[in-house]
Amino acid sequence: MAAASSLAFDPWDPGFLADPYPAYAELRARGRVLHYEPTGQWLVPHHADVSALLRDRRLGRTYQHRFTHEEFGRMAPHEEHEPFHALNDHGLLDLEPPDHTRIRRLVSKAFTPRTVERLKPYVHDLADELVTALVEAGGGDLLTDVAEPLPVAVIAEMLGIPEADRAPLRPWSADICGMYELNPSEEAATRAVRASVEFSDYLRELIAERRKEPGEDLISGLIAAHDESDRQTGWQSDRRTDRGTDRLTEQEMISTCVLLLNAGHEATVNATVNGWWALFRNPGQLAALRADHSLVPSAVEELMRYDTPLQLFERWVLDEIEIAGTTIPRGAEIALLFGSANHDTEVFRDPERLDLTRRDNPHISFSAGIHYCIGAPLARIELAASMTALLEKAPTLALAAEPERKPNFVIRGLEGLPVIV
Ligand code: HEM
Repeated sequence: MAAASSLAFDPWDPGFLADPYPAYAELRARGRVLHYEPTGQWLVPHHADVSALLRDRRLGRTYQHRFTHEEFGRMAPHEEHEPFHALNDHGLLDLEPPDHTRIRRLVSKAFTPRTVERLKPYVHDLADELVTALVEAGGGDLLTDVAEPLPVAVIAEMLGIPEADRAPLRPWSADICGMYELNPSEEAATRAVRASVEFSDYLRELIAERRKEPGEDLISGLIAAHDESDRQTGWQSDRRTDRGTDRLTEQEMISTCVLLLNAGHEATVNATVNGWWALFRNPGQLAALRADHSLVPSAVEELMRYDTPLQLFERWVLDEIEIAGTTIPRGAEIALLFGSANHDTEVFRDPERLDLTRRDNPHISFSAGIHYCIGAPLARIELAASMTALLEKAPTLALAAEPERKPNFVIRGLEGLPVIV
């Protein structure tokens, strides 16, 4: 059995966080599955394995649809953390079929290519507006001035969160996301619990308001799906579930809205600033992009590969599996290393090189299988819109100071990105 603990892989080490990619190369050379003592997980670093396991139904994001905590050999979460788990465990991302299938079908209606395409002019106008303000100010922080307000406004608009209510969305999201890091501290858990309570209370009230006065937004759409199926009209239920009808419970609605609000901006913010930080460190590539804006689509894909915004996703082993001769028992946890998969020499030529013209780029940053990112088409529009606006309106954009890295591993990002124009 291969062990990873003697390697340079150390998600709590600032040196590793500054550049995890050499350690990933070491992991890939060492084996296809490695036991990692500090988290008790099995690390999977190769692209082919990550890609196959994301589609393997013997693994799941949760086990609670099949086993109790005791049956699965796991401790039940602390009672004080219950508000976080009530919220987290009922959102689309942390459900498995049949619940996942039922909710994904409802939410997908808001993310069809046509619906998302219709948002394009709004996203581009907003990007132009934000970048114009940055230019007028002579520079600023690319994170707080452009990268953050763009996706936050778009997803808040889609869900119908009034503008006056949007300020706490980012801090709530950041506190909840703290729980997605490896071995979160008790302090992080306390913050996540508080944010879960406040965010849930806020949405419960908003849902009640929208129920009285529906709008054109996604929350009103989800409520309609819920209430329509009550009347047995529309949303015909050809797929019976445990709950008897094709609808969302109130908790699922709250959890899915929180998921959409958080997932709808967190990774996009980081992809934007990680991307520009990579461009500043690769001036030749930035010059090529400035000379040819038609590279924007392939640049967006390459930057998401080159510095992967979400580095790791976990899966529970629901039924024993074998990976490269190692048997992984039911109850074990597998850590799929997206950042490593995106730098695998078996798939990418010269993966440590940023190449904005890279054509064959099957990066895994949006995942694969049933949990494949529902917002990927929207994220691509947002990333391309801010990049285009910055290229067009701030052609001399430059780094004003070295950015500070966030001390997180799973959600990879910067504290800010100071720029001048
Ligand atoms: C650069 C930006 C983004 C990245 C890198 C990203 C990445 C991902 C990944 C890796 C997953 C699956 C995790 C897993 O397999 O365990 C996922 C799921 C999801 N993402 Fe994204 N995402 C981005 C933007 C967005 C946006 C803009 C939205 C919504 C507006 C969104 C909504 C979701 C949702 C709802 C899921 C859960 C899907 C399911 O479980 O069926 N994401 N995302």
